[in-house]
Amino acid sequence: MALLIINGPNLNLLGRREKSIYGDQSFDEYFADLKAKYPHANLSYFQSNSESEIIEKIHGVGFEIDGIIINAGAFTHTSIAIRDAIAGVTCPVVEVHISNVHAREEFRHNSYLSAVCKGVVLGFGLDSYRLAVESFL
Ligand code: DQA
Repeated sequence: MALLIINGPNLNLLGRREKSIYGDQSFDEYFADLKAKYPHANLSYFQSNSESEIIEKIHGVGFEIDGIIINAGAFTHTSIAIRDAIAGVTCPVVEVHISNVHAREEFRHNSYLSAVCKGVVLGFGLDSYRLAVESFL
């Protein structure tokens, strides 16, 4: 089993950014715990603030690994290009959000990605990523 977590824009600021919404743990810290908890998932992690880098990463791994877990951040609500990248690869992709986007501003209610993903986990804080990993096991 090999799974890649992709985090999109501004998620490098987790632990420092809007703590009341996203919590006070950095993703690096959370990811170390997650890797230790699921050694057989062979978890790896990629973060970028750039739409093109995210697309390149999906292309690069999406025909080889067992699954992608993606939190595309704000690109979720804007990017047909990331949607097409997900639709174009063969591995299953699970969409994740830390916050419950449906309980927030209306512009966060639409996801261009959900329809081409295997499933969506949202609203459970950082635990959303763990639940997404569980879905592959
Ligand atoms: C987010 C929700 C998005 O609306 C926002 O732009 C993010 C984070 C989440 O994980 O809750 O950057 O994807």
